[in-house]
Amino acid sequence: MTRSSLRFILNADDVTLNDVPATRTLLDWLRLEQRLKGSKEGCAEGDCGACTVLIGRLRDGVLRYQGVNACIALMGGLDGAHIVTIEHLSGPGGKLHPVQQAMVETHGSQCGFCTPGIVMSLYALWMENPKPTQFDVETALQGNLCRCTGYSPIIKAAMQISSHGEPGADPLVAERAAMTARLEALKDGALLDMGAGRDRILVPQSVDQLAALYAAHPEATLVRGGTDVGLWITKFMRDIGPIIFIGEVPELNRITRTPDALHLGAAVSYADARAPMVELFPSLQPLWDRIGGAQVRNMGAVGANIANGSPIGDSPPPLIALGADIVLRHGDVRRRVKLEDFYIAYGKQDRQPGEFVEEVIVPTLKGGEQLACYKISKRRDEDISSLCGAFWLKLDAGRVADLRIAYGGMAATPKRARAVEQMLVGKVWSDASIEAALSAYATDYQPLTDMRASAEYRLVAARNLLRRFHLDTTGDGSSLSREAVA
Ligand SMILES: Cc1cc2nc3c(=O)[nH]c(=O)nc-3n(C[C@H](O)[C@H](O)[C@H](O)COP(=O)(O)OP(=O)(O)OC[C@H]3O[C@@H](n4cnc5c(N)ncnc54)[C@H](O)[C@@H]3O)c2cc1C
Ligand code: FES
Ligand code: FES
Repeated sequence: MTRSSLRFILNADDVTLNDVPATRTLLDWLRLEQRLKGSKEGCAEGDCGACTVLIGRLRDGVLRYQGVNACIALMGGLDGAHIVTIEHLSGPGGKLHPVQQAMVETHGSQCGFCTPGIVMSLYALWMENPKPTQFDVETALQGNLCRCTGYSPIIKAAMQISSHGEPGADPLVAERAAMTARLEALKDGALLDMGAGRDRILVPQSVDQLAALYAAHPEATLVRGGTDVGLWITKFMRDIGPIIFIGEVPELNRITRTPDALHLGAAVSYADARAPMVELFPSLQPLWDRIGGAQVRNMGAVGANIANGSPIGDSPPPLIALGADIVLRHGDVRRRVKLEDFYIAYGKQDRQPGEFVEEVIVPTLKGGEQLACYKISKRRDEDISSLCGAFWLKLDAGRVADLRIAYGGMAATPKRARAVEQMLVGKVWSDASIEAALSAYATDYQPLTDMRASAEYRLVAARNLLRRFHLDTTGDGSSLSREAVA
């Protein structure tokens, strides 16, 4: 079954669109076509959060709202969603929403440009967590920039929202059953195939459908969250249609566990992957919570972070260190490759036209195995890594039985430090062994100087991360472990 119109709910209204350019962003559509100008455009690249809106989606029958950056969310990815903008918040007679009331009372707004986005991010937090800690609020606001007030009054507002109302009385919460029914009614299982040529939008409903479509149209661009692709449009003005939107393919959103591995469908977002990843690999929590801001983690997928081939993506180093595999699929043919072998050269991955990443398979830690990962960036939050080092270690009676070290930001691809590893395997896990192995970094890496860091800085920092890992694993660095990632 095929459908040629895009259907979703905007605030209270059902919307059907028969003609939308494939590269149309939600923010442009809201502001230019709907004249809903509450959502602002600050950066148009996912950084400032001024454009934050909520997207409600059904996952296994449960309706959940998350903040996203409308400036890089593409319209084709919104089929079947409930879009909530700042205009939907005030009540009858213009009564302010509890989040808005709290912002007013704490003077959380000055020029007001960031305010709609901040209100939407705090709204998303409050619905799930009505009594947040300061840390919860800071995490929720990582993706929202305010240049006027400073964050103190905004954080104060966030902590007192519940004194102005209860989430249970909030329309999005109180009317959840009715909205769920409306969204269920939009789900007809049909392939969305709309427009033609570069403006063609395809939204497959199953992984088999996606495989057939992409094999037949290898020239198409796959889009999950659009946190990379959106910028090709807003910053580089690239015309990238036709686009196949994969965010709602159920199999690609599946998370399964076996005794030996965690299986992540390629469209699983950072936000959805967080709980199982942090449960299995607690040392990855600081890294996970520093990938983009909350909006980027709601939109972006681990599988896309792998597929984009970036040398500074944050998930490849720990996944390579863990020995992860990926499953690639072309039509009905699947192949399983080691993630580290997927990266061939800058911008070149072991992926054929029409082939896509279907699944990421992450081995769990066995007895005696340890993992750590350290991200170094100029800003703590919402910043791309200057470098990122990940370490997986297996000790046997104080000696290194096995070791995998992988870095991002040190080479043209995410890359293992094989020469360093060789210097250490079989040796006593000691200061002396670490110091002796440091010279091998120059064999493994000839990093570049760029706006994020100089080559010299990268080499020194990479070596120091190995020292840090040694301290953390021997106990001497426990008091430093928080700083190590900050
Ligand atoms: C403000 C901001 C902050 C960011 N911060 C970070 C950060 O801290 N760390 C970090 O690593 N990244 C960061 N990113 C980059 C980006 O969020 C990640 O790379 C993210 O994982 C991309 O996921 P996505 O679903 O949005 O990808 P999309 O933009 O939808 O796609 C990215 C690429 O992958 C391809 N692709 C997607 N899915 C598949 C698939 N299944 N098979 C084959 N190809 C596929 C697409 O065609 C495209 O080429 C940031 C981005 C923004 C805008
Ligand atoms: S306009 Fe800055 S994040 Fe969207
Ligand atoms: S109030 Fe002016 S940018 Fe935040």
